[in-house]
Amino acid sequence: MSKVFKNLKRSILFASKYEKKRLVILFILAAITAVLPYMQNGFFGKLIDATIAYKTNGAGIQNIFNLVLLLITLTILPNIVNLLVGFVDTTFRFNINRNLELFFLKKISTLDIATIESDAYQQLTQKANERGVFIFYTFIDSAVDNFSNLIGVIVSLFILGFIDKTLLIYAFLGSAPALYVQLRYGRDVWWIWDLNSANRRKFFNRRGHFNGITALTEMKLYQLSKRFIHEIKRILDDFDSELESLEKNKLIWEILALLAFAIFLGLGVWRIFNLALLGLMPIGLMLFAYTTYRGFKGTLNVFFRRMANITEWSNYTGYWFNIMDIKPQIENSENAHKVNFAHTPPKIEFVNVSFRYDKNSKKYSLKNLSFTIESGEKIAIVGLSGAGKTTLIKLLCRVYDPETGHILVDGKDLRQIDLDSWQEQLGVLFQDFSSYELPVKDAIAVSNPNIGMDLKKVKQAAQMAKADSFIELLPKKYDQLLWKGFEDGVDLSKGERQRVALARVFYRESPITILDEPTASVDALAEQEIFETLEGLPANRTVILISHRFSTVKNADKILVVEHGQIIEEGKHAKLMTKAGRYAELYTIQAESYK
Ligand SMILES: Nc1ncnc2c1ncn2[C@@H]1O[C@H](COP(=O)(O)OP(=O)(O)OP(=O)(O)O)[C@@H](O)[C@H]1O
Ligand SMILES: [Mg+2]
Repeated sequence: MSKVFKNLKRSILFASKYEKKRLVILFILAAITAVLPYMQNGFFGKLIDATIAYKTNGAGIQNIFNLVLLLITLTILPNIVNLLVGFVDTTFRFNINRNLELFFLKKISTLDIATIESDAYQQLTQKANERGVFIFYTFIDSAVDNFSNLIGVIVSLFILGFIDKTLLIYAFLGSAPALYVQLRYGRDVWWIWDLNSANRRKFFNRRGHFNGITALTEMKLYQLSKRFIHEIKRILDDFDSELESLEKNKLIWEILALLAFAIFLGLGVWRIFNLALLGLMPIGLMLFAYTTYRGFKGTLNVFFRRMANITEWSNYTGYWFNIMDIKPQIENSENAHKVNFAHTPPKIEFVNVSFRYDKNSKKYSLKNLSFTIESGEKIAIVGLSGAGKTTLIKLLCRVYDPETGHILVDGKDLRQIDLDSWQEQLGVLFQDFSSYELPVKDAIAVSNPNIGMDLKKVKQAAQMAKADSFIELLPKKYDQLLWKGFEDGVDLSKGERQRVALARVFYRESPITILDEPTASVDALAEQEIFETLEGLPANRTVILISHRFSTVKNADKILVVEHGQIIEEGKHAKLMTKAGRYAELYTIQAESYK
């Protein structure tokens, strides 16, 4: 329970940063809503007593008039309050959601990839996203609502205590079992759902295959939908049966609780009846006492039922708070050194670099890796799948830091270099590149905020990436909007998208260009020309190129052969061929297959 209050406090503080005034108004209106029914009942009781008095002695007609007027006002007032709540609440909700959405987008954009890839983060976001950031509003809104119930409970307690202490005790005892049921079983439903986190992840993963054209197409071709639906059904069935047995237990307890309430209600009514008989309670007050007694139990019940929901919402907001509190794993050191290699690229050295994705596993993706890249060199990295090539460049981009060993840039440890200024020196095309749904020219020019949009340079970059020929054939050429989801948009083929992505890297004109299989989806003709372009880049540009096609990397200044996270051979093509080692073997296999 204390976790709920901690989260609630934090949510309210967070919300009041953006919407303090409306939040206060909502709380005040909630309190008013709580008190009004009791005032109505109280004054109606008074009206009954005034009517009886008037009937017996003919006095107090003015009092009756006043009471009627007051009752009319008290009956209309809740409607007015409701209208006000609706009005304030709509704006409140919109602004809270808007600010939260922006806040978390900003937060996620500051997180490093190592954090985002981690299992803990993935689990956290998966849970958090089940309800989205909108859960904050739901949480606060239910809390405001329940604040109203709480006030109702307190007010009815006061009234009962004021009328008769014994009634107060009966009301309390009569409601206690029901409270216990709510508290106990409200938590358990959440418990099951939270416990099944692994199953839930599987559920969302399988369901994910039913979204998106690519996933759906493949799933249909492999006739996988039946299997996935079956798996989803099993997860839901399991949850369902656990829930059902829980609900059955709950039902039995609820019936017992109701029985207890009935007994104490009987005692309460008997008490009211006796007080009236003794002349200690006029008829109107009798009615008021009875409605308050019932009101107390009703409101208390609603209060605790809501608490169960609130606990659930609190857990979801808790996930978002956890995301809020995450500290990046890749941090900028305090006195980080800003760099700019626009004129001369730096010498890069890997010194005994080792790295594991999972610190608990024995498997190293890079193991004691050492090599040097001189300023302006054109390097090729080759090796079998899973050898560690992509990992190596991720470390160079400081997506991750080495576990042991050092990456030196002009002799300085990469960790001592300002992260932003380092990444500004890099133009990277990853194996899994992104495509942007923008006009082609922007999809290319986004990579270089320093130049902005320079159409001449965009066209040059497109030519270098062998993208200009197909762009010229698009209906709107360089203004062509990409992605069919937009009106007048078009979809490109995978190879075309890869060439746009490559043009984006060229447009960046970075001192260090890193390309991870940049032509994996490109035809052989374009590929050859792209490699020639890369080799022809001036001496003030370092190029690191990963490729599986040996024929295209023959002319590199240096070839690194990676195997099992280590460099097993390095040197120029001719030298490696005479060495007749792994490189020569792989090269010959490929060359033979083309004959
Ligand atoms: N995000 C990750 N989390 C955990 N392990 C990973 C991750 N990425 C890669 N690995 C593991 O690290 C090893 C090296 O992977 P890497 O992607 O560097 O290979 P690669 O040489 O680029 O292969 P390919 O030629 O297929 O692209 C592999 O065994 C892979 O399973
Ligand atoms: Mg790779």
